[in-house]
Amino acid sequence: MTKSLIIGCGNLGQNIISGFYKKKKKILICDKNKILLNKIKKNYKNFFEVKENLKEVSLEKIEYIFLCIKPQQVLSVLRILGNKNKQKIKIISFIAGLKDKKIRSFFSHEIQVIRIMPNLLLKVHKSTTGIFSNNLSISEKKKIEKKFSFFGRFIWLKKENQMDFFTAFFGGGPAYLSLFLGILSKILIKKGFNKKLSKELVLILANGTLEILDKSYDFNDLIKKVASKNGTTEKALNFLNIDNDLSLLISQAIYKAEKRSREISKDLL
Ligand SMILES: NC(=O)c1ccc[n+]([C@@H]2O[C@H](COP(=O)([O-])OP(=O)(O)OC[C@H]3O[C@@H](n4cnc5c(N)ncnc54)[C@H](OP(=O)(O)O)[C@@H]3O)[C@@H](O)[C@H]2O)c1
Repeated sequence: MTKSLIIGCGNLGQNIISGFYKKKKKILICDKNKILLNKIKKNYKNFFEVKENLKEVSLEKIEYIFLCIKPQQVLSVLRILGNKNKQKIKIISFIAGLKDKKIRSFFSHEIQVIRIMPNLLLKVHKSTTGIFSNNLSISEKKKIEKKFSFFGRFIWLKKENQMDFFTAFFGGGPAYLSLFLGILSKILIKKGFNKKLSKELVLILANGTLEILDKSYDFNDLIKKVASKNGTTEKALNFLNIDNDLSLLISQAIYKAEKRSREISKDLL
């Protein structure tokens, strides 16, 4: 039976490992940090095979290789993998900015490369994950979606450079929403609510709003329901949208993140 190999068990790698564990799928794990590997062995009751040195890992039964290391660590890892000369492997790269072509350049034979950009919500299996590959068939794409369904929702991108926008929008998404909710919470704290209660109340507000949006309203319909003519909400919304053009500010912020993603790609060339 073929297996997946995860290289790097930091924040991302551990979320993926936990997804495989829930599906009761055996995988091979490699991380150069022995203490971390021992923790993983203990936490998952020796369910997974672990290796400390990538050079000693046999790829004989490996089909998917997950690159879950930092950009500055990836080139040496690709050099080792390229030297192993294993045919028929699929490299799944999570490295922001590392291009398909660059990954291929480490291999003397044809391999399949899948670039993938999940966000933090992978932890709760709700990541909107951008995924790109130059040379996968539709059935292979479906196989990947099924095999790694614990990620959340996959969006296949048509062009590799769409990854930059995806990273900016969905990669940063949980942080942007958290910023907004954090601002609301700080206002409550200033009004005398304690920190714990402020967070609790903001989360009730957010969850309730999401539930209603999910069930019925469009974004604008919900706004119309809340903001009556000449009322209090309309006053606040006009200040945000008309006086200060909040939507332009947010679009510009996402554009800056996208531009930064392109710069990072250039550094890795
Ligand atoms: N965190 C996320 O949710 C997320 C989302 C999307 C994309 N990503 C991307 O995923 C990558 C990993 O992020 P992360 O936050 O998980 O990083 P991280 O916490 O630093 O984890 C990387 C792990 O890989 C180990 N490692 C380094 N070189 C190795 C080698 N040659 N062989 C085996 N193991 C090796 C590191 O060990 P040492 O600590 O000893 O170096 C570390 O334990 C990054 O490129 C990031 O941009 C992350």
